[in-house]
Amino acid sequence: MTKRFLTGGLCLAAALMAAPSARAMDAISVAADSCAGCHGTDGRSLGTMPAFHEKKPAELKQILREYKSGKREATIMDRIVKGYSEAQLDAMVDYYTAKK
Ligand code: HEC
Repeated sequence: MTKRFLTGGLCLAAALMAAPSARAMDAISVAADSCAGCHGTDGRSLGTMPAFHEKKPAELKQILREYKSGKREATIMDRIVKGYSEAQLDAMVDYYTAKK
């Protein structure tokens, strides 16, 4: 009985591990939602925060790298980008710029 349960559990774990891309995408959308509080849902800020749709993805990715390296001055973004890898930041830009 215990053995059967264990085997079932291992199969489930293997099945979950077989879909890393789907889970990675979900993680990005969750992380990206934290940006919406300032930049607006869909990255179209209605206030004074910069809106994402006004720039090209490559330019936004470059700006985020510059916040990370300290090359570009910021009030808040330099601190926010420290919590993410460059690959995650790129994925978040792709996530927002794919929304039209
Ligand atoms: C607390 C509010 C706040 C949050 C949360 C926030 N940002 Fe920002 N963001 C700003 C401000 C303010 C600027 C302008 C630069 C500065 O002063 O830091 C900015 C600038 C940017 C820019 C440059 C845009 C441009 O056109 O120059 C990008 C790209 C960006 N943020 C991406 C993100 C991403 C991705 C997240 C989520 C991980 C995020 N931001 C979360 C406030 C925020």
